[in-house]
Amino acid sequence: MATTLHTPAPTTNKHLIRWVEKMADLTQPDRIHWCDGSQQEYDALCDQLEANGTFTRLNQQLWPGCFLARSDPRDVARVEERTFICSLSKDAAGPTNNWEDPFKMRRKLKQLFKGCMRGRTMYVLPFSMGPVGGPMSRLGVQLTDSAYAVVNMRIMCRIGEPVYREIEKDTQRVVPCMHSVGMPLVNGEKDVPWPCNDEKYIVHFPETREIWSYGSGYGGNALLGKKCFALRIASNIARDECWMAEHMLIVGLESPTGEKTYVAGAFPSSCGKTNFAMMVPPKGMEGWKVWTVGDDIAWIKPDANGHLRGINPETGFFGVAPGTSAKTNPNAMATLRKNTIFTNVAETMDGGVWWEGMTDEPPAECLDWRGERWTPQIGRVTGRTAAHPNGRFTAPASQCPVIDSEWQNPEGVPISAFLFGGRRSTTMPLIYQAFNWSAGVYIGATMGSETTAAAAGALGHVRRDPMAMLPFCGYHMGDYFRHWIKMQRSITRTPRIFHVNWFRKDANGKFLWPGFSENMRILRWIVDRVRGRAQGMETPIGWIPYYEDIDWNGLDMPEEKFNELQRVDRALWRKEVISHEELFIALHDHLPPEMIYERELLICRL
Ligand code: GTP
Ligand code: SPV
Ligand code: MN
Repeated sequence: MATTLHTPAPTTNKHLIRWVEKMADLTQPDRIHWCDGSQQEYDALCDQLEANGTFTRLNQQLWPGCFLARSDPRDVARVEERTFICSLSKDAAGPTNNWEDPFKMRRKLKQLFKGCMRGRTMYVLPFSMGPVGGPMSRLGVQLTDSAYAVVNMRIMCRIGEPVYREIEKDTQRVVPCMHSVGMPLVNGEKDVPWPCNDEKYIVHFPETREIWSYGSGYGGNALLGKKCFALRIASNIARDECWMAEHMLIVGLESPTGEKTYVAGAFPSSCGKTNFAMMVPPKGMEGWKVWTVGDDIAWIKPDANGHLRGINPETGFFGVAPGTSAKTNPNAMATLRKNTIFTNVAETMDGGVWWEGMTDEPPAECLDWRGERWTPQIGRVTGRTAAHPNGRFTAPASQCPVIDSEWQNPEGVPISAFLFGGRRSTTMPLIYQAFNWSAGVYIGATMGSETTAAAAGALGHVRRDPMAMLPFCGYHMGDYFRHWIKMQRSITRTPRIFHVNWFRKDANGKFLWPGFSENMRILRWIVDRVRGRAQGMETPIGWIPYYEDIDWNGLDMPEEKFNELQRVDRALWRKEVISHEELFIALHDHLPPEMIYERELLICRL
């Protein structure tokens, strides 16, 4: 199947051919394979991954077309401290990004990539983020020595033949994406199931729109169309071209009368975007429907009339497995029933998969994400979970039972509201609405969340994660806020902005809000506000619903409990505002004045 270095490329594009040759000279692969994106190619690569021990083919009766991959335990999540924005000036990257001099970094990368693909195949993987040829879509080519990255990318975005044809039209700059797991096979050395390198570099050059990723085969480190391109590089392009590249889900809420309203929501990694994107109406709200457009990334742009329209640039879900169940997210469970790649979850004795929270009862025995025997008893004694907390599924969006009819519309869907939210056990109410756009930008800019397993590092302490973009904004965060403020000038119909928190806890550490399906009640109030139908009560931080304005049909929610969920504790809020200051001091010389004014106004109201 693999073609040799001298097989003619399936494209006439001289730039592409020359770049591939140059990179092959640098990395010295044994073979070059130009991906066509076909099913045969996918199947052959999966066979090869199985032969190499990277993939375990799951029980095909129970899990048709599904595979399980176990990563190296040292390569299980994004590595934020190894992620770099190498703009010409350090100031352009800002204090929230790691920066390195681009000339120095290029020298370092040259050295790392020199001969790094020896003994391996270099795959040439052309891809389109957004429908091929669409007005909002963008092209990239990933060169990678990881077949695992290729098969995951085939689920996550549009790849192959049609993309070569689009590149040949020469209508836009193609983003070059270099990727290597950083483990050359020399002198006939045998491969390992999950090659990687302890030295990792995830590098972005914003001015030249280039990505170089070294040493990791996992998720956002290796599927370069996702965070590296669609967020870090695209946020730079979007700023220059007056649109927005955001870490957001997009859903359409359809009323029983068929009225559809689309909203986009930014929640930090592992804070419920996938769940929210596929929400099932709760008991008592039958007749309402939620349709999924996207669960992780939104590209949003004003149309000719100044109305915001958003696309999901991806075609798959790279979702967190633990906590996903028939109860919490039946639509995700239906999506991942077939043609799915699981990574770092447990394998059951009948060749299926399992993870914490998938069922109430764990299996009596299984193999954990490392491939070692696991029983509930072993789990209790060792404190090890069967699945890794950042274990994930890569599943085709087209298999989602509630995928929106417009999800592949190249022009996008109209966006009427933005939601911001993180994991906050205290302080933040269940729901409030910003007074206006700049107050809303302030709310997004000062968003905080308790850290999760999606990134390597300590769990559970509040960190500021502006617009859920802290790890993903490819330039100075202060300039990013300014861009948000400025966007309003190109919009004739300003979307409403809301803040939600599903994670508030009581004094005993129990969630006050049932969450999941019940979040629909809150979404409905949001839509009613957008449509000018619902009341709001003014508080120092924004508008909140009256108890009577939420549809409680089917849920036991006493008014006192709701008040507790919504309580604005002025003492806690004063502390909160002081902690906003920490971020603002770091960003001060790029902070738009609106942020300072909004902060002053908030302090006055408190
Ligand atoms: P990335 O893919 O990392 O960007 O994250 P995501 O936002 O898509 O994460 P996901 O939707 O998979 O969030 C998973 C975690 O959030 C799981 O632990 C869920 O149990 C939890 N979660 C989701 N929705 C709710 C909710 O409404 N209430 C509570 N308490 N937990 C929730
Ligand atoms: C996230 O961490 O926000 C993800 C997973 O969506 S990854 O693609 O690995 O970044
Ligand atoms: Mn994400």
